[in-house]
Amino acid sequence: MDSKRRQLITGISLAGAGVLLNACRPNSGPSGSATNENTKNEAPKSGEEETVEVTATEDLMREHGILRRALLVYQESAVKLRQDAASVPPDALEKVANLFRVFGEDYHEKKLEEVFIFPTVQKAPGIAASYVDVLLQQHTRGREITDYVLAITKADKLASNSVEPLAKALESFVRMYEHHAAIEDTVIFPAWKSAIGQGELDELGEKFEDIEHEQFGDDGYEMALKRMEEIENSLGMANLEMFTAPAPPK
Ligand SMILES: [Fe+2]
Ligand SMILES: [Fe+2]
Repeated sequence: MDSKRRQLITGISLAGAGVLLNACRPNSGPSGSATNENTKNEAPKSGEEETVEVTATEDLMREHGILRRALLVYQESAVKLRQDAASVPPDALEKVANLFRVFGEDYHEKKLEEVFIFPTVQKAPGIAASYVDVLLQQHTRGREITDYVLAITKADKLASNSVEPLAKALESFVRMYEHHAAIEDTVIFPAWKSAIGQGELDELGEKFEDIEHEQFGDDGYEMALKRMEEIENSLGMANLEMFTAPAPPK
């Protein structure tokens, strides 16, 4: 296996991932990159898991997985806000909005999709190119809504006249991004992969890794995942079973 190709290190070497807020500071310097680069080529130590290769497209799609988990929290929170606004701590929503800003908007969208994916897809034949303008508009609208959520959740308690507008904003954000990410997964990323070919896909996978390390100083995905799990736990939304649909009417 080409040792330069993108790899994910799982296991106890990432046990310190709870430092997301610090590590999410943009442009935290190349030192983390060098450290991780060294680490990833070492043989797994006792208690560590094997390294697992992650391609560029798989990487983009698992980033969507983190964002979808944020959307689930928004969706559930919109329902709860209408039932009992006091049951939704504003700081929990603020944490979700911060994660979406740092990991989704500032990294996944601005550093990867808008620089590498969309310009290539726009020049490629096929239907994918026709989606790019709308996808960019949706990135902009998403950032406006995140600004709003961050502003409104700064207070210890939501003002009563903010509850319904916030619930509506969360729901419309979820509706937009669910479809946005689905189009990217099923149309845009496959078109990008076809347009660039395997060699460039491998090179860009490596480049994406460098960008991730520059942005987060460590493995941004692992840190975002840990952070999302903490938020879900704090809101009592960590149990997958609670989302199993009821049986249909007989
Ligand atoms: Fe996007
Ligand atoms: Fe995306």
